[in-house]
Amino acid sequence: MKSTQVHVVTLPDGEVRPEHFELVNVDLPDPGAGQVLVRNTWTSVDPGMRLRLRADAPEGYFPAFPLSEPMDGIFTVGVVEESRAEGFPVGATVWHSYGWRSHAIVDPDEVAMNGVADLRVLDVEQLSPQTYLGPLGAMGLTAYAGLRVIDALDARADTRTIWVSAAAGAVGSLVCQIAKLSGLRVVASAGTAEKVAWLRDEIGVDAAFNWRDRPLVESLRDAAPEGLDLYFDNVGGSHLEAALAAMNNWGRIALCGSISEYEGAPASPDNLFLATSKNLTLRGFRGSAHAQLLDEMQQRVGGWLADGRLRYRESVYDGLAKAPQAIADMMAGRTAGKTLVRI
Ligand SMILES: NC(=O)c1ccc[n+]([C@@H]2O[C@H](COP(=O)([O-])OP(=O)(O)OC[C@H]3O[C@@H](n4cnc5c(N)ncnc54)[C@H](OP(=O)(O)O)[C@@H]3O)[C@@H](O)[C@H]2O)c1
Repeated sequence: MKSTQVHVVTLPDGEVRPEHFELVNVDLPDPGAGQVLVRNTWTSVDPGMRLRLRADAPEGYFPAFPLSEPMDGIFTVGVVEESRAEGFPVGATVWHSYGWRSHAIVDPDEVAMNGVADLRVLDVEQLSPQTYLGPLGAMGLTAYAGLRVIDALDARADTRTIWVSAAAGAVGSLVCQIAKLSGLRVVASAGTAEKVAWLRDEIGVDAAFNWRDRPLVESLRDAAPEGLDLYFDNVGGSHLEAALAAMNNWGRIALCGSISEYEGAPASPDNLFLATSKNLTLRGFRGSAHAQLLDEMQQRVGGWLADGRLRYRESVYDGLAKAPQAIADMMAGRTAGKTLVRI
């Protein structure tokens, strides 16, 4: 059995580009006792992968990808082709963590990605398999857990307005909708006019703006004249700085990610004292640290998907050979919704 895999060949210095990767064919052993062979059908493209395209990933994060080896620790969906493990029959659709390759040998006993990507059989009767890489997977968990840690789910009476950055993306678009369903006034920002129109017209946020158009502080003043009670930060840098300026006293910020810094831009903000002067809570979190919320999230988000109250969008690249272009496009803002590779 051969497996086609994407390997990292050189580490990017600045923007990630397709030439940092290569496609290789490797021999795959037969599955051992207790293992399964999975033919992968969909694999994920995540900004966090850019943090692993370094000699060392940030401390505490998933490890850096080794050069010229398979890229492990990537959310992936596939179909069991051979099984020597109970509970994982041939033909079952599963998720696991051996992405960016056509076939993988998976051990069901392995704890993968802090327990949120352990080999698991998925119910694909009502929903497409790749939904489990978006709203019903790590993206849904991140949105749900992030809102939970800042006490924004089923919002408190003293909480009115939330700003969500990178709002047309995989996590952000779910955050906007769960926040609306939780009774919040949602302000959303994105980097193209088309994304802004989608957020306003299809997702139904209360206000949306293009962060590239004007200084953020001005856009926020117009979109949220009452100030921000909550901020869901997907971007970091100047976005976090603008949020600190616009926050109301006792506001709460979920530090989900800081994509503006992943390709080497210097880290901001330079107004952090506002967190002290306004009694703010800044709460870093990882979705994968909240695996205990997975079932609850799937039940609630699955219900909203089923009754049409939650929408999602995908940017799909066909074939593993396109995976490097997909990550380059996603980092540059050329994708919307969940970025995926169909294998
Ligand atoms: N804490 C966790 O467990 C966890 C889990 C998953 C993801 N994350 C983080 O959540 C964030 C969003 O991830 P995602 O998977 O949903 O990605 P995504 O939003 O689908 O894609 C990334 C988007 O970021 C925006 N962007 C890129 N560079 C930017 C810049 N310099 N300034 C402003 N916006 C920029 C672009 O959108 P525009 O066109 O709108 O600018 C781009 O489409 C990332 O920071 C990621 O690392 C955290």
